[in-house]
Amino acid sequence: MSIKILSVVGARPNFMKIAAVCEAIREYNASSKRLLIDHVLVHTGQHYDTNMSDMFFNDLELPTPNLFLGVGSGSHSIQTAKIMEGFEKVLLAEKPDIVIVVGDVNSTVACALVTKKTCWTTQTERDFIPKLVHVEAGLRSFDRTMPEEVNRIVTDALSDVLFTTEESANENLKREGVSEDKIHFVGNVMIDTLLRYRTKAKESTILKDLQLYENNGPKPYAILTLHRPANVDDHGTLSKMLDAFLQISRDLPLVFPAHPRTLKQIQEADLGDYFVDHFIDRPEPWDSRVRIRLLPPLGYLDFLKLMSLAQVVLTDSGGIQEETTILGVPCITLRDKTERPVTLTRGTNVLVGSDCKKIIEEFTRVVRGQREIPSAPQLWDGHAARRIIRILIEEERRSAGPSRAEVQTIDSKHPD
Ligand code: UD1
Repeated sequence: MSIKILSVVGARPNFMKIAAVCEAIREYNASSKRLLIDHVLVHTGQHYDTNMSDMFFNDLELPTPNLFLGVGSGSHSIQTAKIMEGFEKVLLAEKPDIVIVVGDVNSTVACALVTKKTCWTTQTERDFIPKLVHVEAGLRSFDRTMPEEVNRIVTDALSDVLFTTEESANENLKREGVSEDKIHFVGNVMIDTLLRYRTKAKESTILKDLQLYENNGPKPYAILTLHRPANVDDHGTLSKMLDAFLQISRDLPLVFPAHPRTLKQIQEADLGDYFVDHFIDRPEPWDSRVRIRLLPPLGYLDFLKLMSLAQVVLTDSGGIQEETTILGVPCITLRDKTERPVTLTRGTNVLVGSDCKKIIEEFTRVVRGQREIPSAPQLWDGHAARRIIRILIEEERRSAGPSRAEVQTIDSKHPD
């Protein structure tokens, strides 16, 4: 007897989240004697470059996706529509009991919509619509100009089961009228993956490759990541921010693994003078010229190692705010708002927006000041995905009655 779970990935931040879910399913299947999970992994192809997708499958030991939709890039509407068109066919062919979507990218909202708009007939039910599960539900930046905020609101409104990472998400969902029995505070699957791969990442040679070792120890350096449309799509905003980063790079080597969207904007705006191309196979010597060191996007393990040993990380990413919180590395977030407020209260995160003066002031404060010891947010302990699978299995057993009564609950050694 089996229950069919179909999970969706599409863009880079999805891969580390689903890796934890895949591992929890593997572990569950290894320990369950009766009911097994038949897991189908679907990759929409929203991200498709080797260093935006394949490298993560390798680093995170993810199974090869069962289905690949190959949608590629496009405007938000075109990309969302293409995913919906492809995913409807998948859903009708696979007929899963449960669909899991993670995070807030276009693949998340597109597959959530299709899941709740598609039904078929089963032996026991005339019209069956699969259960929609959202992992990382309830986060809100309260800024609807962010495409991800729209994706989060729509996905949460449609979901039957909502797994949250922090208390603010529980409050947001309740305020929006989501019934409390649908909300489960389980912790953070991205942190499950970070804790699982932290030791393996130590083996990465990235610091050596980038000539960031001196006297057998890492040199002090900072990392920059930047890809939000609000920061990179307007050439005036981008060049003003680059002025601040250039100034910072005079104090501390600044390594910048750049997203393809950002690289494209740098080329279009002819902003190459800010950078030294810092290719891993032939890095520029650090003391030749002071410039921002531009790199292609890095794989998971290389980036984790680089992040763990950095003096400070400057970023507009959502996930990096959470990862630096656990690593205890100061994080300067290049946004005015965050949908992850626990990283400000428990972690190392501060918000500075895109203002040049604020970026430099905060950087100076962080590198001169004492490093604060952050405390891990509640339930960010490496067991979130296990909790998710245990809750889903228990809910299936309850809702399906006697036919599913033989479902084994996950081994008692697994935490609540
Ligand atoms: C998407 C997510 C964002 C997430 C980010 C992480 C949405 C709305 N946004 O933004 O939340 O933080 O991923 O990376 O889903 N491109 C390539 N190769 C690729 C993928 C993209 O060259 O493999 C280029 C294309 O020019 C594309 C652009 O990057 O047009 C943007 O890609 P897209 O998937 O639309 O959004 P992201 O900015 O990556």
